Amino acid sequence: MKQKLGFGIIGAGAIAAVHAEAINAAGNTVLKAVYDCDPTKSTAFGRRFGIKSCTHLAEFLADPAVEAVSIATPSGLHREVVLPAARAHKHILCEKPLEINVTRCDEIIAACEANGVMLSSIFQTRFSRAVEAVKQAVDAGRFGIPVYAGAEVCWYRTPAYYLSAPWRGTLALDGGGALMNQAIHTLDLLLYFNGDVEEIYGRTANRLHTGIEVEDTAAAMVRFRNGSLGTIVASTACAPGFPRRLELNGTRGSAVIEGDRIVRWIFDEEFPGDADIRRTCAEPEGLQGGAENMNIDFEGHRRQFVAFADAVLCGRPLRLSGSDGRRAVALICDVYRAALSGRPISLSRQEKTEVPERMR
Ligand SMILES: NC(=O)c1ccc[n+]([C@@H]2O[C@H](COP(=O)([O-])OP(=O)(O)OC[C@H]3O[C@@H](n4cnc5c(N)ncnc54)[C@H](O)[C@@H]3O)[C@@H](O)[C@H]2O)c1
Repeated sequence: MKQKLGFGIIGAGAIAAVHAEAINAAGNTVLKAVYDCDPTKSTAFGRRFGIKSCTHLAEFLADPAVEAVSIATPSGLHREVVLPAARAHKHILCEKPLEINVTRCDEIIAACEANGVMLSSIFQTRFSRAVEAVKQAVDAGRFGIPVYAGAEVCWYRTPAYYLSAPWRGTLALDGGGALMNQAIHTLDLLLYFNGDVEEIYGRTANRLHTGIEVEDTAAAMVRFRNGSLGTIVASTACAPGFPRRLELNGTRGSAVIEGDRIVRWIFDEEFPGDADIRRTCAEPEGLQGGAENMNIDFEGHRRQFVAFADAVLCGRPLRLSGSDGRRAVALICDVYRAALSGRPISLSRQEKTEVPERMR
């Protein structure tokens, strides 16, 4: 059996270094090449990690050692590089958001299916011990009847953050603000734990970053298909910024995750492993909400790269699909649509509002 999956990275900016560290540490992957449309960045990255650097996409995709590609370009440019990579029969691990609207996500998913390659959307927070513990409790029915689920991402980004690359805070390339860029991981968890949303009332605002095209703050009230109610809050204007908070409350138990830690874990019926979960999942794993936005340790990515390579090499089920990536993008676009309409929208009976291209 083949041991390691050969990876190339497209886009050699901030998150690409996290990808490279994760690939080097995964054990079943090996980093082979990098491509960035900016030759200076490609070359510097290639030197830093001791790999081949390419200045043309065709040259990068022609390399048979690159069997899988991780996508680390600006969000609204994912489709532009995923489609040729899929046509070149490379498996794809794509940064969040999968793309900036549902139509583009669908194009990516269809291209990967048509070319027989695997596609996974990066949500590294799914791989924390805390998230795995909550998901097991959900699947075991330990919460009872679902009552209320909340996702709160009150973070802070400096004005300099939005100036740090020309694509940040733009409709065309960021596709949205605090929801689409920052809170998307937490919304993915909300959907993972509590299922799809049926009705949304939402508002967006710019409270600090008034010069950007996208929201720095959003709030929404939702009703889930399972009948429970929920709230979503996302911001990059809340100083100093707190760890994201996700809570699940049911008639027989409740749990709260802050950052990557479980801070509340209480059920009617105590299970033998509960004390251990409270102890081991309460350890800080690093992620906070403050202005140091690249304070991302690579462990979550490492776990996702390992799982992805296991799926490609050993046929194990993919833990996160392109459809999972699409689902989070769809929810965010639905919040934008609700905010635009100023009224609650029902997702089973989509109301007719003029929908900008980015929300389709
Ligand atoms: N999972 C996470 O926690 C996490 C964290 C940060 C960023 N991200 C995501 O990663 C992506 C990149 O973010 P970043 O902060 O690294 O951005 P960045 O601006 O630091 O890097 C983007 C790089 O892509 C290159 N690029 C632009 N267009 C290209 C093209 N057509 N072909 C090849 N290269 C191209 C740029 O030259 C740049 O080097 C975004 O989608 C973002 O949402 C995810």
